[in-house]
Amino acid sequence: MTVRWAAPGRVNLIGEHVDYQDGLVLPFALAQHTSATVERRAGDQVVARSRGQENAFAVSSSPGEVEGWAAYVAGVVWALRDEGAAVPGLTIDLDSDVPVGAGLSSSAALECAVAGALSDELDLGLSPTALATIARRAENDYVGAPTGAMDQMASMLGESGHALLLDCRDLSTRQVPFDLSGAGLTLLVIDTHAEHSNVGGAYADRRSDCEAAAAQLGLSTLRDAEVGDLPRVTDAVHRRRAQHVMSEIARVQEVATILDAGRPADIGAQLSASHVSLRDDFEVSCDELDAAVDAALAAGALGARMTGGGFGGCAIALVRDGDVTAVEQRVQSAYDRRGWRAADIFAATPSHGAHRVG
Ligand code: GLA
Repeated sequence: MTVRWAAPGRVNLIGEHVDYQDGLVLPFALAQHTSATVERRAGDQVVARSRGQENAFAVSSSPGEVEGWAAYVAGVVWALRDEGAAVPGLTIDLDSDVPVGAGLSSSAALECAVAGALSDELDLGLSPTALATIARRAENDYVGAPTGAMDQMASMLGESGHALLLDCRDLSTRQVPFDLSGAGLTLLVIDTHAEHSNVGGAYADRRSDCEAAAAQLGLSTLRDAEVGDLPRVTDAVHRRRAQHVMSEIARVQEVATILDAGRPADIGAQLSASHVSLRDDFEVSCDELDAAVDAALAAGALGARMTGGGFGGCAIALVRDGDVTAVEQRVQSAYDRRGWRAADIFAATPSHGAHRVG
């Protein structure tokens, strides 16, 4: 039997660097996706193929034994086996139109497509949340990127025309209406091409700053911190990190309330405030992201912010349909003036999450 699944990348609308603090996040699934076609083969090897590249590894591989893009595939096999599944030899063919390394969760798309296809091929009957958890274990425990739950949950559970309100404390979810075209709006994704990685040290540093702030407050995460607690965080850097997390969770709640009321054009102020907080308090932005956000706002965007882990990757801008060209031109001329490579700019469509396609 051959099983084929498709799983999308994601854009986080708001709720940045709060998932690993048990916070609330509001991502949506993109139309861009990765597909994984799985077939059994004799022997105990997994042969993974992607765009003319082939990588073979043992079904029983352990963390550290497979590198590069194949590690995400090996990580899913490893996580399923760790949960007790008997995984046979496999051929896995991959294809993707999710931009890689842009902070749009190409890795989660890959993991979720493989997890879904394997679950069906092996008749495991795993729920979307269980598949997202397997995919996240591949990322955290096999690849070694200490990320939160957001990306894999968005890829698995997204619904078209909606953003996914995810409570990272218990992985409970609620679909929040996000009808852009009905409101005459476009959500532009601006890929800065600035380098971005979650495996490197800065992401882990931010996590440990938050953990230190929470520990000083006697809490396991900052989810339960209150504004009045802040002065008790003695280290000024840790205090600013906590300030970001607390204010960002509040902004997610505000945006969800506005979207529930069917007023997507009114979330701009929260998006822009999120960027300022990520830039100044959490310090995960960079010149390319700031320039994209500033140019978009100057050209009439209703709100704009960096999205994803930061230090590069993508910004988003909420724009009235009639202002799209002006915003694109302003961003490109800001880049041109600085001698930077032109940004890739495209409209994001809140789309369906991972599903079987064959
Ligand atoms: C990356 C991680 C996510 C999340 C974001 C920041 O995308 O994979 O888990 O922490 O950064 O919000």
